[in-house]
Amino acid sequence: MQSKGNIAIDGPAGAGKSTVAKLVAQELNYVYIDTGAMYRALTWKAIKEKIALDDEEALNRLAQDTEIAFEKKPGTKNQIVLCDGEDITLAIRSPEVSQAVSQVARVPAVREILVGQQRRLAETGNVVMDGRDIGSNVLPDAPFKFFLTASLETRARRRYKELISKGYQTSLKQLQREIAERDAMDSQREMAPLIKAHDAVQIDTGCFSPQQVADIIVQHVRERL
Ligand code: DC
Repeated sequence: MQSKGNIAIDGPAGAGKSTVAKLVAQELNYVYIDTGAMYRALTWKAIKEKIALDDEEALNRLAQDTEIAFEKKPGTKNQIVLCDGEDITLAIRSPEVSQAVSQVARVPAVREILVGQQRRLAETGNVVMDGRDIGSNVLPDAPFKFFLTASLETRARRRYKELISKGYQTSLKQLQREIAERDAMDSQREMAPLIKAHDAVQIDTGCFSPQQVADIIVQHVRERL
């Protein structure tokens, strides 16, 4: 398994992983890979195809028959997520997908397929990959591992602001409940649960801006490269 220069960023929902990971990738000119988006893409397709989320066989077949890709949006710095060629970047952030995704992500056959794809994407080296099990399972040899945390209240507040700005109706209380449920499901599943790798650097992002967290990570990496 190749992990040349790769950076693993793990942590629970709303800890700021993706915002920070994008900033780190930009700063170091690395490729950003959002593994949560891969589980979300499959979940989006499962909902579209009306697949029962407890039908592990059907989810396994779906994972085998689905092509998930990341591309740069022409003329911008933004990355888009493609599912079988369709741009689903916005659709996978819907509350419906957010609520269902942990059920899909706990299916061992689905994880096996997506983890294989994630390892292949990292073979080039110089990627920043964020998720739940990157440092502990996907890229255990990655030279740089970070585990981002924040209190449930902070994480729910961040998600609330994000969803309201995108025009979704929700309440802070409901979001807190949903995030706590998702944390529990992600941490307690049998296969590759959300866990801090023993050699990961833990950062509580509660009192830092995303840019400050990215600066801490970039400085740590540069000092050791
Ligand atoms: O980071 P996110 O909220 O977009 O992740 C969506 C879901 O996918 C989340 O419930 C946990 C799961 N996930 C996972 O199990 N393993 C990963 N490497 C990334 C995400």
